[in-house]
Amino acid sequence: MRQDERVSFDGALESARQSAYPPGEFVGQESFMCATEIQSLAVRAGIAPGVSVLDLCCGVAGPGRFITAQLGCSYLGVDSSASAIGIARGRAAGLPCRFEVSRIPPMPVGQFDVVLLLETMLAFADKDTLLRRISSALRVGGRLAFTVEEGQPLTAGERESMPDADTVWLVPLSQLLSCLERVGLQVGWVEECSRSHSMVVDALIDAFKAEQSEIAAHLGRRALDELLAAHRLWSDWLRSGRVRKFAFVVEKSRETGARR
Ligand SMILES: C[S@@+](CC[C@H](N)C(=O)[O-])C[C@H]1O[C@@H](n2cnc3c(N)ncnc32)[C@H](O)[C@@H]1O
Repeated sequence: MRQDERVSFDGALESARQSAYPPGEFVGQESFMCATEIQSLAVRAGIAPGVSVLDLCCGVAGPGRFITAQLGCSYLGVDSSASAIGIARGRAAGLPCRFEVSRIPPMPVGQFDVVLLLETMLAFADKDTLLRRISSALRVGGRLAFTVEEGQPLTAGERESMPDADTVWLVPLSQLLSCLERVGLQVGWVEECSRSHSMVVDALIDAFKAEQSEIAAHLGRRALDELLAAHRLWSDWLRSGRVRKFAFVVEKSRETGARR
């Protein structure tokens, strides 16, 4: 998706997204997580009043605004898309949220109690560098809460069929666990969420199909076809076990002296 397309996408998909999630579970997330899952991950990571939170790849910051309103925290959201941050800023009026437009890495200045990386680990081909940099942005005892798409790398054929395949980098669980250990991040909690995410993908497909004329009128037929194609692949892969989704909370156990 190009930067300037975010405003159109956000508007064109709003109503379908609202109807796809169970009542009360859509809070502006651009992902397969439900609000209950976002809140429980944030609570497990220790987000509370006075806790400093860095939300990497926050998008329009649906989860970030929700967490800040529900739990109270000092919040910085960062995304490479200026238009996503523009939307986030407009919707965060009255909340103690700050935002920056920046491509990660490098990390923003400062040390944080909690780093969030929701539904975007997938976009980073080099997870070792990413996790090393995240670790450097956490104080010792600080937590990273994230979701991840687990599996063997996509084959050439799978890459061919997935729109925007340059943002789809699966990681085998064993590789992820070794990487976390190398950068001083200790697993505190992990849970598989393939089933619940598979249900959300299927509901999104149905909702996009139900509103396809309106969505195509805003975005064009090609963008709608790519949206549906990507969601159908995620649906197949999550159902068949080709990809598994996990939510993690990991804790920084030692100083690593890594570059930001
Ligand atoms: C799937 S959206 C997730 C947004 C949000 N975390 C959520 O759960 O609703 C992924 C976001 O990551 C951003 N992104 C991808 N790679 C990035 C990078 N290297 N640095 C900063 N933002 C990035 C995209 O612009 C997009 O807004």
